[in-house]
Amino acid sequence: MTATYEVRGQVAVITLSNPPVNGLGLATRQAVAAGIEQAEDDAAIKALLITGAGGAFSGGADIKEFGSPKALAEPNLLSLIGLVEACSKPVVAAIHSVCMGGGLELALGCHYRIAAVGTKVALPEVKLGLLPGAGGTQRLPRALGVEPALNMIVSGEPVNSELLAQVPGQKLFDRMATGDLMEDALALANEVAELRPLPRVRDLKARCANPDAFFQFARNMVGAQSRNFPAPLRCLEAVAASVSMKFEDGIKAERAGFAALMVTPESGALRHAFFAERATTKIADVPGDTPTRKIAKVAVIGAGTMGAGISMNFLNAGLPVVMLETRQEALDRGVATIRKSYEAQLKKGKLKQDKLDARMALLSSTLNYADIADADLVIEAVFEELSVKQAVFKQLDEVMKPGAILASNTSTLDLNAIARFTKRPQDVIGMHFFSPAQVMKLLEVVRGAATAKDVLATVMALAKKIRKTAVVSGVCDGFIGNRMIEQYSRQAGFLLDEGCSPAQVDRAAEKFGFAMGPFRMGDLAGNDIGWAIRKRRYQEKPNLRYSKSADLLCELGRFGQKTQAGWYDYQAGKRDALPSSVVAEMLDKHRAALGIKPRQISDDEIVHRLVYALVNEAAHLLEEGIAQRASDVDMVYLTGYGFPLWRGGPMCYAGQIGLFNVVQAMKRFAKNPLDDAEFWQPAPLLARLVAEGKNFS
Ligand code: 3HC
Ligand code: NAI
Repeated sequence: MTATYEVRGQVAVITLSNPPVNGLGLATRQAVAAGIEQAEDDAAIKALLITGAGGAFSGGADIKEFGSPKALAEPNLLSLIGLVEACSKPVVAAIHSVCMGGGLELALGCHYRIAAVGTKVALPEVKLGLLPGAGGTQRLPRALGVEPALNMIVSGEPVNSELLAQVPGQKLFDRMATGDLMEDALALANEVAELRPLPRVRDLKARCANPDAFFQFARNMVGAQSRNFPAPLRCLEAVAASVSMKFEDGIKAERAGFAALMVTPESGALRHAFFAERATTKIADVPGDTPTRKIAKVAVIGAGTMGAGISMNFLNAGLPVVMLETRQEALDRGVATIRKSYEAQLKKGKLKQDKLDARMALLSSTLNYADIADADLVIEAVFEELSVKQAVFKQLDEVMKPGAILASNTSTLDLNAIARFTKRPQDVIGMHFFSPAQVMKLLEVVRGAATAKDVLATVMALAKKIRKTAVVSGVCDGFIGNRMIEQYSRQAGFLLDEGCSPAQVDRAAEKFGFAMGPFRMGDLAGNDIGWAIRKRRYQEKPNLRYSKSADLLCELGRFGQKTQAGWYDYQAGKRDALPSSVVAEMLDKHRAALGIKPRQISDDEIVHRLVYALVNEAAHLLEEGIAQRASDVDMVYLTGYGFPLWRGGPMCYAGQIGLFNVVQAMKRFAKNPLDDAEFWQPAPLLARLVAEGKNFS
């Protein structure tokens, strides 16, 4: 049963019952329609009440049905809401917990609405690249007022019911529940059972004092903030229709907007990202009900750049943290970094003094391992040298209480080797944060060969608590994100050899939507980091081809922003990347030495070489079982590497281009004598998918 029907006195109660969020899929819509008909046919029923079972009134249309015939099958959401509104007996919506999207639209079609305090109310369709398509853009402005409705529809953000109830003149809620929602709702239903005519939101007027000026101002604001996303402006136009058109015409305009947005690649990408984010938490052999270990105290070893940022995540979540260092000065510096960061937030009004004090009170520091022995989780963030990690993990093995989770933030070292430094490899796991660790959403959770399932489950649950997007990676050099970025960087280097300037490559990548092109990124992160990695690579794989331009740059001491010189020049205290004649000359000489005649390279070629390098390497990662699923790779790139959200991640993008076309391009790239023909051989998984006419998902 996806909706139940029950008679309470003279009231028929229809309860949406489609876990987890009472999504309004076809079966639920059919069950609600059947309930309405049954109530209409029963003379003893004088009023109806619609509510939701479990933890939601309704999370809206069933997004999983989008694109399938079920989404449009009758009764579709619009016709169901029409049925509710046309019911000859009053229909009351009893709203609680979550009332979103189609759920709110259904409630707006009811004659009366009563809400529990704390209900999250939203029309979040815009976050899926859509607009509310079942009357929301026409009814919410009528019920709530044009301006607050526009804000909700264009932002998609949830607002608490009690705040909405305070909007002057609002007709969204007839009443807020003061006690038990169902009791209050039944009382309302009995009270209004005989009242006629039945109030309908569609009959209200969407009031707006000076619509032309208001919407023009809003258009400018929304347009400026939503580049690359078509939905917000279409949401706005639909709301404008609620003021300028009759209800029926407004509904038609809304429907047309919804249908047009549904087929945009941006909406496809955003819906992909919605499910991709939720999929990351699912691990094939670790069921969702795997018991977790209690984490009440965290220790962090190393109070440098990463240690300080990592600590802040836990302090922000209310968990006590103790930082351990080898020297008092390093400890003091780490504590000062954290305080300074909180004080900056205080100055900007993003943090209150009492919160700052509470967070700092949770932080302690020590030079002594005995002081961290009772921590439930310890995260190591010391220098990236195996011998240093070895010393730390041997110490941890000796002092930490049994069952403590021992995590490493290493970005390149072998986690299995680190685990073997202890006598408890089952308790060792990688927690690869990204810099700045208190800001970046991504956390790669590295599962070692011996990592226990409950350790993995605990860290995944903890990641949710500290609001990270956690993606599981197997052990390999660079894990998912950095192993892929290495191929992207190699391509960026070859592009320079062949004739591009750093600015040209960056411009093309940024036009595609990357937050930053590869060379500006290198200057920000420090070019010396990649240099050290490449030196190691040359030893491991002497025949692997790289452009030597980045090494030449580092030999000039141009490490990036920190030396005020990298691929670009920088002025003291400024971050603007200025073209560098030194770099241009260096590249000219480098090409001349290789006998390369520079050629014009199109933006398309630049972008495709960069992105397909990511895709091909990711296909290898999937085949090796390092990444669990293609959508995990997308989440790594969306949350850790500035990949444009409206393209859904590299794998989603490749799917939209078509894997056949991607492979054809790779074959062309392989013919370029200045590139790496071997790398461009399509990964076996990719070749297989093309042969089978399939996509990654
Ligand atoms: N349809 C189908 N499944 C949904 C869903 C929906 N509308 N909303 C959530 N789910 C699923 C999730 O995929 C997840 O499934 P899983 O357990 O298999 O991974 C499960 O419900 C739980 O979701 P969350 O992990 O997000 O749970 P939270 O408790 O953190 O959040 C929520 C609940 C606030 C409802 C959040 O899931 C959410 O924001 N959902 C999207 C709501 C939305 O966008 N609604 C509009 C839909 S479009 C629409 O209504 C069109 C109409 O205008 C015509
Ligand atoms: P850092 O140099 O800023 O900090 C390292 C800190 O560890 C220093 O304060 C040092 O005093 C301390 N330390 C060294 N040996 C120690 C020991 N034996 N016991 C206790 N403390 C010790 O380095 P950073 O950037 O914070 O990196 C730390 C780790 O995080 C490395 O493994 C690095 O690969 C990894 N990482 C770094 C990222 C970055 O962007 N900086 C991103 C992701 C991971």
